[in-house]
Amino acid sequence: MNCIGGVCESLLIDMFDNACFTQQQVAILNQIDTDVACALQQLPRRYEHSVRVAKTAYKLAETYQVDTFQAVAAGLLHDIYKALPAEELLLRAEQHELPWKGSLTHAIPLLHGPLAALEMPSRYPELDAAIFKAIARHTIADTDMSELDMVLFCADALEPARQGDFIHELRTQVGISSLNKLFFDCFAVGISYVIQSRRYLYSDAISIYNHYVNQLQRLDS
Ligand SMILES: [Fe+2]
Ligand SMILES: [Fe+2]
Repeated sequence: MNCIGGVCESLLIDMFDNACFTQQQVAILNQIDTDVACALQQLPRRYEHSVRVAKTAYKLAETYQVDTFQAVAAGLLHDIYKALPAEELLLRAEQHELPWKGSLTHAIPLLHGPLAALEMPSRYPELDAAIFKAIARHTIADTDMSELDMVLFCADALEPARQGDFIHELRTQVGISSLNKLFFDCFAVGISYVIQSRRYLYSDAISIYNHYVNQLQRLDS
């Protein structure tokens, strides 16, 4: 079994000024990278996606002055449970008594975020709780998204392999739109996709949508 990631190390060398991260932070990121490569060894494209999300999260964090270490850590880790079978996700959700509105069974594709956020803190006690909160919210969002939450959400939507006219348009808004507006636009595109593809829409999605519509309208006026 070969599950040594190694991408993170080159990612750090290629993209980042090493001075940005302490040696301890580099060591933590490399450990996370190896763990994610291991967890996703049956889904190599998902691992590659995770690395692209980490890189995109880094750029967004730099642009919007959010903690870059937390952004990269959240980006690498956000889909670590993506390879878990549906039955396992459901079982763990029940074991944790995961607070959830509506049917857990219908929401299986959304559970990997909140479950990883519940279980990862014991594996990485050195990481700040803000990172796990961002991971929990990358699938469902919320009405009180922090800047880190929004950076991860947008990075997941805008990483370079994501295609589509709306996504291309949103990439041009990075650094021009506020982070709130960029997040809201990514969220709205996500909801549109869910409806167009006739997938299950999490029941809180409409409340979150309306919350940010009202907030952004207030800011505009
Ligand atoms: Fe995800
Ligand atoms: Fe993702």
